[in-house]
Amino acid sequence: MNSDRTEERSYAAPNAATDLTLGRRSFLRNGISAAGTVTLGGMLLSREGSVLAEPGHGLPKGDAAILRFLAAAETLETDAWQQYNELCGVQDAEVPGGGGNPAFTAAVAVLDEDMAQYLHDQTEDSMSHAAFINAYLAAHGVEPVNLDRFRTLPSSKATGAQQIGRLTNLMQLTVDTSWWARYRDPNHNPDLDPNFVFPQAVPGLANGQFPGIPRSDADLTPPDHLQAIANTAGFHFAFLEQGGTSVYPSLAQRVTSREVLRILVSIGPTEAMHFQTWHDKAGNAPPLTDPTNGLVFPDLNSPPFGGEEFTTNLIMPEPCPFLSRMFPTASIIRANETEGAATRAAKALVANGLFIGQSQAFFNAVVELAREADRAHGED
Ligand SMILES: [Fe+2]
Repeated sequence: MNSDRTEERSYAAPNAATDLTLGRRSFLRNGISAAGTVTLGGMLLSREGSVLAEPGHGLPKGDAAILRFLAAAETLETDAWQQYNELCGVQDAEVPGGGGNPAFTAAVAVLDEDMAQYLHDQTEDSMSHAAFINAYLAAHGVEPVNLDRFRTLPSSKATGAQQIGRLTNLMQLTVDTSWWARYRDPNHNPDLDPNFVFPQAVPGLANGQFPGIPRSDADLTPPDHLQAIANTAGFHFAFLEQGGTSVYPSLAQRVTSREVLRILVSIGPTEAMHFQTWHDKAGNAPPLTDPTNGLVFPDLNSPPFGGEEFTTNLIMPEPCPFLSRMFPTASIIRANETEGAATRAAKALVANGLFIGQSQAFFNAVVELAREADRAHGED
């Protein structure tokens, strides 16, 4: 016990003992549930406790707001990934729930035979991000984000889906596929050219509402309809993760605690790893027309597509203008402007149709979390 404490002091700030006490007090003052207090209070005195951000100063308010927005975003995304995993991923102890839908799983596997494994791992990663950020907030006396009261949307009725309330709606998606050209265009950056319109890879998906999962077993036929749903899912996977790829570096620019910065720059690149994988797989979506609604998946390698902006194997981020055109182009994450980044991310999810059917209270809660995060400017 004593030697542990010594170790902790030398590892933390010079006056760590005092700071830890203050940190614990403010933690208690901020009122976590009694059960949580025992566990988390204990944690503050454990060796792990020595890594708490800036002991004695608590968590800067702005950093807490940014983390709360990210916890909400990860919770919402986890809800979407879980629905995908139930139907076309791998269901196991790491990602429980659902029973799989063999026909839909086969259609998604047309994009890559490993899709089920990738979906499982994506879901697990997303769950881990939400759980970690919430636990970090709680350990600093900040209320974690809990959206359980909004789990009200219906599940798919297709074989394999759990019948539980959902946060997100995957059955009326409007998928913005402009990220495809945005990462291939050598001349434009959304931060420098806010009015430039990047073309859509799948123009039809950006207009109208389409299921990303079978709504019931009636959607399992005819084959091109089911494949169109799998293709929609394929582009939606990349849409979700390109958003995460942008939001972490965008918000990282406004955090003040070095440890919170460490969290954002450690999670953010995993979003980029997901995005890169999904980007590659979306390019394997077979060209077709959904016979039930006319949705067209074009051949991205042939005119009028093809070329620098559409060819499917150009999945590495093309160098583009960054910060100023006085500099040479650079291969970067885009967009990454920090002003208003949380609000932009929230708006993109709303425009995606993910929340169709949600209550006004839900929208208000998400907008408020985004606003609070965008108010953060490192002032405290
Ligand atoms: Fe994530």
